[in-house]
Amino acid sequence: MITKESPIAVVDSGMGGITVLRKLHRLMPNENYIYFGDSANSPYGTKTKEEIRLLTVNAVESLMKRGAKSVVIACNTATSAAAGYLREKYPDYPFVGLEPALKPAALSSKWPRVLVLATPLTLKEEKFNNLMARFEGEAEFIKLPAPELVGFVERGEVDTQECTEYLERILEPYADHKVDAVVLGCTHFPFARKEIQSILGEEVLVFEGSMGAAKQCQRLLAQRDLLTDSTQEGIISFENSDESKIEQCIKMFGFNDV
Ligand code: DGL
Repeated sequence: MITKESPIAVVDSGMGGITVLRKLHRLMPNENYIYFGDSANSPYGTKTKEEIRLLTVNAVESLMKRGAKSVVIACNTATSAAAGYLREKYPDYPFVGLEPALKPAALSSKWPRVLVLATPLTLKEEKFNNLMARFEGEAEFIKLPAPELVGFVERGEVDTQECTEYLERILEPYADHKVDAVVLGCTHFPFARKEIQSILGEEVLVFEGSMGAAKQCQRLLAQRDLLTDSTQEGIISFENSDESKIEQCIKMFGFNDV
């Protein structure tokens, strides 16, 4: 049975959803959380939609069966592949999904040039292209898939020379203020925020959807009177399909820059 003290579940293909978990925990520190990273199957962003949907639905349904009061699909890729299906199958259940923060980026100045970094699957999905079409009159969007960055984050190698060289190579055409804003459309990418910002230029605005998702979760739980009454800090359980990754998850949760 779901109660106010049931946990909130957060799922991702691996480490990326930790950027969302941090915001959830900041906003609702007394809630209990289960964080599930599917690192054994990471990355999702280069798989087919059907494969990602199957992996996501399995993970989400198993957390629902265990009594999660909300599931946050803390992955743009998994959201585009599976959120529609899950919402249709469980219309009353409070799911929260992630999508690239195009709206605030598009409205951040007059006709900005907006670079959108995400996985190949997110950028080619209909969901993303419909969203982009809504704001095409407000901004110029440039889509840039960055699948290798997921691997650098998964391996905890963002601060290596190799990762810097990769980012410099893909961001080179947009470096030194050639864009006005960048959207981090993959939950792994805020771990490389500093590096991305320093290549693109310090005045470039950076947008990502993690705080919006955390607030949406809080709203959905409040509407159902399911926010905890506890006044003590909640417990976070880290689970991963690759158990050797759990220690790294805990370490990354302590990473202060996201
Ligand atoms: N974290 C995921 C996202 O937000 C994708 C990472 C992956 O490709 O596994 O899109």
